[in-house]
Amino acid sequence: MKKKKYIAILASGSGTNARRLIQYFRTHPEGEVALLVSNKPDAPVLGMARNEGVESRVIDREGFYQSRELLPHFRERGIDLIALAGFLWKVPDYLVEAYEGRMLNIHPALLPDFGGKGMYGMHVHRAVKAAGHDQSGMTIHLVNARYDEGQILYQASCTLSPSDTPEDIARKVQQLEHRYYPPVVAQLLPFIPNT
Ligand code: GAR
Repeated sequence: MKKKKYIAILASGSGTNARRLIQYFRTHPEGEVALLVSNKPDAPVLGMARNEGVESRVIDREGFYQSRELLPHFRERGIDLIALAGFLWKVPDYLVEAYEGRMLNIHPALLPDFGGKGMYGMHVHRAVKAAGHDQSGMTIHLVNARYDEGQILYQASCTLSPSDTPEDIARKVQQLEHRYYPPVVAQLLPFIPNT
């Protein structure tokens, strides 16, 4: 029998995408969310992972950037793929290299527009509103060494009306994220060699 692929999620916030991933893969034959990592000890995503019965770990800056403690932990847990889900720290080069082609990010806009440093969460939706665009959407892409610039795997868009507030835009985009992130991760799994 083929070995399941193990997924680690990195998240900093409320964790609605992380929850969708966990629930989607609970019954999936090819993948499973084995670990959730957060850089914020008080992030709601940690409580969510506990409720869902998923192992979690909090990482500090020293451990993430200097002593590189995640790598050996990922190896021990047999992590095959990393999914960023609202993770707000820049991923260091050593981790990008170790998981090249196996690390995904979801961004709440249609990249390359509204991406880059400082463009996250509601900042993105306020910028879209200020620009007066009549559509927004979400982008799922591979992670490389530069913010939001890795190869795009999938995009979905939604129509905006002039009366939409940034909060309305956030809701529309979040619906797309929840719908598409899990299946896009799943589609990548067969292409990842077993570790
Ligand atoms: C998501 O909308 C995700 O696209 C965004 O953070 C939100 C996390 O929400 N990521 C970025 O802005 C990265 N630049 P969640 O915690 O409810 O999943």
